[in-house]
Amino acid sequence: MKVLFVCLGNICRSPLAEAIFKHKISKLDLADVWESDSCGTSNYHIGDQPDPRTIKNALKNGVQISHLGRQIEPDDLENFDLVLAMDRANYKDIMRLGKATTHPHKVQLMRRYDPMGGEDVPDPYYGGEREFQEVFDIINRSIDSLIESFRKS
Ligand code: 4NP
Repeated sequence: MKVLFVCLGNICRSPLAEAIFKHKISKLDLADVWESDSCGTSNYHIGDQPDPRTIKNALKNGVQISHLGRQIEPDDLENFDLVLAMDRANYKDIMRLGKATTHPHKVQLMRRYDPMGGEDVPDPYYGGEREFQEVFDIINRSIDSLIESFRKS
């Protein structure tokens, strides 16, 4: 099973989701079974390290991030089993890629898995520490329930 986390810039939300997912999956000794990656819908941060504020907040929460920014490609829709968009704008942009129409069921919103509900993982880029922690909390609990749903199926 391969999961792709997608946001706009691939420096805040999606590399954090990838890092949290990998952190939890390796603790469960499932790293050989569940692969993951992240990317952005935009080309703004290709090759860039994650935002320093994301790295700092993740570390504060015990999660280390290692990723370089990349942009989504149509083939990602072939190569991944599940493509999780951080917000509705990301979802729309992914569905505009040719191959998304062949695999529409693969593309979902991250917060579909949030046990507290909600639609968008808010973009923290223009926010402060509080917003980065809010994003961490949303993604953390959504990934817990995502992993739970994998383990049940
Ligand atoms: P992300 O946040 O989509 O969570 O990585 C953003 C990062 C960069 C920009 C916007 C959002 N930007 O406009 O450069």
